[in-house]
Amino acid sequence: MRKSTPRRNKGNDLIAAAQAAMKNAYAPYSKFKVGAALVTTKGEMFAGCNVENASYGMSNCAERAAIFSAVCKCGPRLQISAIAIVNAQNQPCAPCGACRQVIYEFGPTATVVFRAAKGWKTLPITKLLPEGFRLK
Ligand code: THU
Repeated sequence: MRKSTPRRNKGNDLIAAAQAAMKNAYAPYSKFKVGAALVTTKGEMFAGCNVENASYGMSNCAERAAIFSAVCKCGPRLQISAIAIVNAQNQPCAPCGACRQVIYEFGPTATVVFRAAKGWKTLPITKLLPEGFRLK
């Protein structure tokens, strides 16, 4: 988990925090280390890395690690303003479908920054997950 003052929470800070978290990734099976960092609407920053398991399906993505850490600290009303995702190989890596749904749950207007085929891409979560599911 990382934290900084609201004024410094710009895109580059998010990417730097995601890169720092990525160093702690546990990815002995895929060898694909991922880091994510988010900033809440209140300006708090949280990071996470992927954690794999010998039972592959138990693996957790970096995005969800960051979001769950943020919920643990900020409580259930937390709102994601932006989330950045990086990987050690600088490969295109948009969030997986499961993580899109979790990002949407806590940030229906969140901005997502990730590596695309040609450099960085910044998109609203609703572009990545149109018609996301919400329980009303
Ligand atoms: N992974 C993430 O952590 N985030 C993503 O957005 C894509 C995939 C992880 C899951 C698994 O540990 C590894 O990358 C390979 O799929």
